Amino acid sequence: MVKIRKYRPEDLGGMAALFRETVRTVCANDYSEKEREAWASADTSGWDASFRAHDTLVAEEEGILVGFADMAEDGYLDRLYVHKDHQRRGIASALCGALEERCRAPVFTVHASKTARPFFEKRGYAVAEERTVVRKEVTLVNYKMEKSNEKSTLAEFAREDLLRAAEERHSVRRYADRAVAEDAASLLSAEAEKCAAEGGICIRLLLGEEKAFGGLMAHYGKFSGVRNYFLLGGKKSADLEEKVGYFGERLVLLAQALGLNTCWVALTFSKKAAKKAAGFAKGEKSVCAIALGYGETRGVPHRGKPPEELCRGKNLPEWFLRGVGCAANAPTAMNQQKFSFSLKDDGSVSAERGRGFYTAVDLGIAKYHFELGAGQENFTWSK
Ligand SMILES: Cc1cc2nc3c(=O)[nH]c(=O)nc-3n(C[C@H](O)[C@H](O)[C@H](O)COP(=O)(O)O)c2cc1C
Repeated sequence: MVKIRKYRPEDLGGMAALFRETVRTVCANDYSEKEREAWASADTSGWDASFRAHDTLVAEEEGILVGFADMAEDGYLDRLYVHKDHQRRGIASALCGALEERCRAPVFTVHASKTARPFFEKRGYAVAEERTVVRKEVTLVNYKMEKSNEKSTLAEFAREDLLRAAEERHSVRRYADRAVAEDAASLLSAEAEKCAAEGGICIRLLLGEEKAFGGLMAHYGKFSGVRNYFLLGGKKSADLEEKVGYFGERLVLLAQALGLNTCWVALTFSKKAAKKAAGFAKGEKSVCAIALGYGETRGVPHRGKPPEELCRGKNLPEWFLRGVGCAANAPTAMNQQKFSFSLKDDGSVSAERGRGFYTAVDLGIAKYHFELGAGQENFTWSK
C-alpha cells in the first residue's frame, strides 16, 4: 500500500534520482531528448533547504520512494514527481490532494510541464500563461496554472487552522519582494474592518507602502522588504492597548493561516510616516504596526516560559491548560511574557499583566490565544 508521509532529509538522494529518471522517461512524448537532459541535469543542491521550508510529502510503498511533492505556504506547488514504474496509480493525485488540503493560501499555483498539464486540468487548474524557462541554454515550454482554494473563505477557517497558525507563527522581519495575493488581501482587509468595528478602534491595512519601514529605525530593527503592514490605534482610552493586542492578533493568525508572515512592531518603524500613510485623524493615537508579507523564511521558534509559569492554581481543568498552552505561543514585546491566567472560584478566568513596556498590548494578544486554545464556550472572563 502507498503511504504518504512528511519529508525527511534522508529522502533527498532518492528524490533527486527519482526526479531525473522521471524527467528522462515519462516526459519523452512531450520534450526532446536534449530538452529532457537539460531539465534532468538541474542543480538540486538547494533542494533540502526548500523541502524544509515547504510542506513536503513523499509517497512510499514498502519502504521504496514512489513519488514526492512540495508546496510553499503561499500555495505554489514547486515539484510533483512520480516514479516511472508507478504512473497512473493515483499517486500524483494523492500527493497533490494532500498538499491542497493542508494549505490555506487562497490560490494554488504551479508551473506545469506539457506532460503534467492534463493532470492539473483534471484537478481544476486553468492555464494563466504559457512560459519558457532556460535550462543549460535550452529553452523549455511550461504553463503557469492556477486554481482557487475553496477552503480559503473566512467562514471555513476552522479553529484548528488558527490553532495550527498559533503554533507555526514566529516573527518574521525580512520579506520577499512579492505583493500580497489579491484574495488574501481582500480577506484581511474585510477582517480588519470587522475587528475595528467590534473593538471600536482604528485599523488600516497599508499595501505597497514603503516609507514606514524604509528608514533607519526599521534598519536598526533588522527589518527588510516590509511593504505591507497594519497600523492599529484609536482614541485614547483605558483599554485601547489591550484591544489593539486582541484584535491585531486575530489578524496575525488569519494572515498566518493564509500563508503570510507577520511581526508585531511597537518601536522599530516610523510611526509618523505610518500615521500619515494611514490617514489617522487628529486625536487618533497609533499604538502598534504589524508587518505583513511573504517572509524570506518562516521565522524561528524562541525560548519561552513553560505554561506552568504563566498561570496560577492547582488541579486546573483541561480546557484551561489548553488555553494557557496556546497563550504560551503568543508574541510579546521583547519576548517578555509578563502575563498570567488564573481560574476563579466562580469558574471565570482572570488575566493579569506585569509591569513593563507594552504589557497591555501583550495581554490582549495572550487573551486572544487563550480563548482560541480554551474554547470560548468553556469560560467567561472575570470582571
Ligand atoms: C507589542 C509588541 C511589540 C513589538 N515590538 C517590536 C519592535 O518594535 N521591533 C521588533 O523587531 N520586534 C517587535 N516585536 C516582536 C517581538 O520581539 C517578538 O514577538 C518576540 O521576540 C517573540 O518572538 P516570536 O514572535 O517569534 O514568537 C513586538 C512584539 C509585540 C507583541
